[in-house]
Amino acid sequence: MTTSRDLDIVLFGATGFTGGLVAEYLAEHAPQGLRWALAGRSLSRLEAVRDSLGSADVELIQADVNDSASLVALAARSRVVITTVGPYLEFGEPLVKACAEAGTDYVDLTGEPEFVDRMFVKYDETARANGARIVHACGFDSIPHDLGAFYTVRELAASAGGAITAPLTMKGVVRSNATFSGGTFHSALGQMSRPKEMAAASRERRALEERPAGRRSRAAKPSVGRDSDLGYWLLPLPTIDPFIVARSGQALEAYGPAFTYSHFAGTKTLRYAVGGAVGVGALALAMQVPPLRAKLGERVKQGTGPSEGRREKSWFTVDFVAETGGRKIHTQVSGGDPGYTETAKMLAESALCLAFDTLPETSGSVTTAVAMGDALLARLQDAGIRFEVVEAS
Ligand SMILES: NC(=O)c1ccc[n+]([C@@H]2O[C@H](COP(=O)([O-])OP(=O)(O)OC[C@H]3O[C@@H](n4cnc5c(N)ncnc54)[C@H](OP(=O)(O)O)[C@@H]3O)[C@@H](O)[C@H]2O)c1
Repeated sequence: MTTSRDLDIVLFGATGFTGGLVAEYLAEHAPQGLRWALAGRSLSRLEAVRDSLGSADVELIQADVNDSASLVALAARSRVVITTVGPYLEFGEPLVKACAEAGTDYVDLTGEPEFVDRMFVKYDETARANGARIVHACGFDSIPHDLGAFYTVRELAASAGGAITAPLTMKGVVRSNATFSGGTFHSALGQMSRPKEMAAASRERRALEERPAGRRSRAAKPSVGRDSDLGYWLLPLPTIDPFIVARSGQALEAYGPAFTYSHFAGTKTLRYAVGGAVGVGALALAMQVPPLRAKLGERVKQGTGPSEGRREKSWFTVDFVAETGGRKIHTQVSGGDPGYTETAKMLAESALCLAFDTLPETSGSVTTAVAMGDALLARLQDAGIRFEVVEAS
């Protein structure tokens, strides 16, 4: 990656709900001398964001997804680009292309599997050739899960006194009381309405992706049931997270010769588990009917999200239980409001990590665990997200 660029970090989408929180986080936590800019399609809205930050020295850049020259210019100037312009299936591709071609590191907040797979198919090779790290899903999707699994493997190996040499099974169980923004709701509606396209993108990716010789890593199909380790009812959670975790397991030898990950939401009572399963099923069906989809979309406006008061009361936990060769470990990742306050922290710290930390040599489409692993884990722990061993045997 070239170092002659005049900016360290550009935040594209600073005028949106989550982008505004990322801008606040960077303004409060940026290292001395950080050269950064806010980008978006309206200079007057960007000025209002900059005024609210009280950071007069932050540059403003006009850029629009529909003006590819503006994105090429933006990618050429910065070492790392953060984007919160979503839904990514609708708006994301031109910036991935510009960063892959310019050799610029890229981080986003997508939770849309089809987008991630399509970008891999179209730009992974270009990004590798130019030394760009394209790191998707740097928010609640999927950092607590990806780095939580990474941390669990590390702690399990340490408790076993060395490398993992037997098959390793792991489950991740998410609990939270949080709510979502308009942007997240519209991104989820978009992805849920395209199951065929999502499956096709996944097939195209699998046909291209290299597999490690002599090792395997996969996301298992989870089912509803009561979990004796944690005492929760488990509900399959159809998010991007298990695919990201399995991809890290594929790339990192530390996960051993055969890694299997299953991903769940956890509830204390069966009533909530059944209600959740029915609700998700009904929503997925409704998404296939365009008028119903449009009606739902009207209910939550883009640009809006949970208030500061609501976010302050929000929390999340992700419990991991992993077993290999007769050893077992229970770990937990936990923090505050997952979707926005903690997401803004995770995304900003990912960009700072790529810009300033000593990291493994990687390029192309890479997960957070593969691109940043220990360095990002340490940053997030310093920033107040807890990664803990609950029990090891
Ligand atoms: N997975 C996670 O953990 C997680 C958590 C939070 C958010 N997200 C994702 O992050 C994305 C943003 O969410 P949000 O709630 O912040 O959305 P939002 O408030 O609707 O913000 C969208 C941003 O995109 C910008 N934009 C729209 N069209 C544009 C264009 N043609 N050119 C340039 N910029 C354009 C908007 O700019 P204007 O101000 O000019 O309209 C705004 O800054 C969503 O995809 C959401 O799913 C994911």
